[in-house]
Amino acid sequence: MHRRDAESVRLTEAVVDYALERIAMEPPPLDQPLTPVELAERVGATITASGLGGEAALAIFAEHLAPACISVDHPRHLSFVPGAPTESSILFDLVVGASNIYAGSWLESAGAVYAENQALRWLADLAGLPASAGGVFVSGGTAGNLSALIAARWAWRHRADGAMDQTRGLMVASAGAHSSVAQAARAMDADVVMVPADDRGRIRRAALDETLEGLSEIDRQRLFAIVATCGTTNAGVIDDLGAVADAAERFGVWMHVDGAYGGAGLAAPSVRDAYAGIERCDSLIIDPHKWLFAPYDSCGLIYRDPFMARAAHTQHAEYLDVLHSDDPGLELWNASDYAHHLSRRARGLPFWFSLATHGTDAYRDAVETTLDTARAAARLIEAAPHLELVMEPELSVVLLRRIGWDTERYQSWSDSLLRAQTAFVVPTTWAAQTVARLCIVNPLTTPEDIAVIIDSMDDAGGH
Ligand SMILES: Cc1ncc(COP(=O)(O)O)c(C=O)c1O
Repeated sequence: MHRRDAESVRLTEAVVDYALERIAMEPPPLDQPLTPVELAERVGATITASGLGGEAALAIFAEHLAPACISVDHPRHLSFVPGAPTESSILFDLVVGASNIYAGSWLESAGAVYAENQALRWLADLAGLPASAGGVFVSGGTAGNLSALIAARWAWRHRADGAMDQTRGLMVASAGAHSSVAQAARAMDADVVMVPADDRGRIRRAALDETLEGLSEIDRQRLFAIVATCGTTNAGVIDDLGAVADAAERFGVWMHVDGAYGGAGLAAPSVRDAYAGIERCDSLIIDPHKWLFAPYDSCGLIYRDPFMARAAHTQHAEYLDVLHSDDPGLELWNASDYAHHLSRRARGLPFWFSLATHGTDAYRDAVETTLDTARAAARLIEAAPHLELVMEPELSVVLLRRIGWDTERYQSWSDSLLRAQTAFVVPTTWAAQTVARLCIVNPLTTPEDIAVIIDSMDDAGGH
């Protein structure tokens, strides 16, 4: 535990060497999980009264623990929503860890929050939000959606001036919304009414209006938010954001946009038109740890009117009063005040550093590269006689059907791909049928990688 003795210098070198080697791997091994029994056999107990020593603990991590974690940045990891952090963002994550900044208050982290806010500003500009917009980086989309919806409910109750304080709130979302929206409703003890999605899984104007018009008078009074998604997780499609904005305006309720995955597409001119209407939202989330090349964990949460969010989220306590001013005009940007948290890591800084290093054009180009790969994947699937393209990709999620396969066959194919360390692709469900899903967020994923995967779905292909 002593700092800077010979042992600690050796350990520093060993840890930094490990990190640098991991960063330099192109690609890293895909790796795969072990069972709890296998891990217990290989690793055993690591927490002991006298300690193993850093080098021994690092060796256990390098030899047994790390290889039992799938590499999210492998170019053939196309499951769920992977990530592909830039080298500079990972390097700076090391700096953030070494600095251990308390990034909750301006008093303690003015410099960090200043930089994080510039990164948030870039995201807000992409969406066309006003100069007054702002927010905070939270741990992920789940935390971002919850925090935004808490602010939305606060705004509704505030407007009602006490009349709704005991009333259970209601939000409207699409059937394609991420599971974290329903989870937020459960956490908030609120209800969700689902808008039936169109055949691609999107909110369209007619279905939204019909759902809203069909609400009872009581439900209309309980309604506090409409949640739209730009980039659904399962199919990567974008709701009609203009229709959602019109409806939110008509009903006088908050419009929240979940762009956790797909918000990154705002940077890509080839798809930007599909987001029309996003500039009218009251809150928006975009996860740099998904499609904006930053490490976990990082979700940009932005409010049109941050003061509303501050009123909803600020924690009051004797020991915290020193951070606040009686004069709202003098209030400083305490990042904790804009979400459901207090202590926070400066988790926007790795993203900021990479943006500052490479410039925003590089981000535009990298997102376009992944979109091109998704389009190339669609063409390869169309050309393969054993496959069907479920729909033309709107963003970088590609759904495909293997003609003649049942659910078990998809799963055994997926398992064998991972076992062979060829790729990590898990099946999903679309229109009540099992299909394969490719989520492409890594600019290093090539059409050749996709070709290897789709060849493996041909029974003659060897998997
Ligand atoms: C659209 C959308 N919203 C929210 C989330 C949740 O994000 P997180 O896993 O960072 O909590 C996801 C995750 O994939 C997502 O795709």
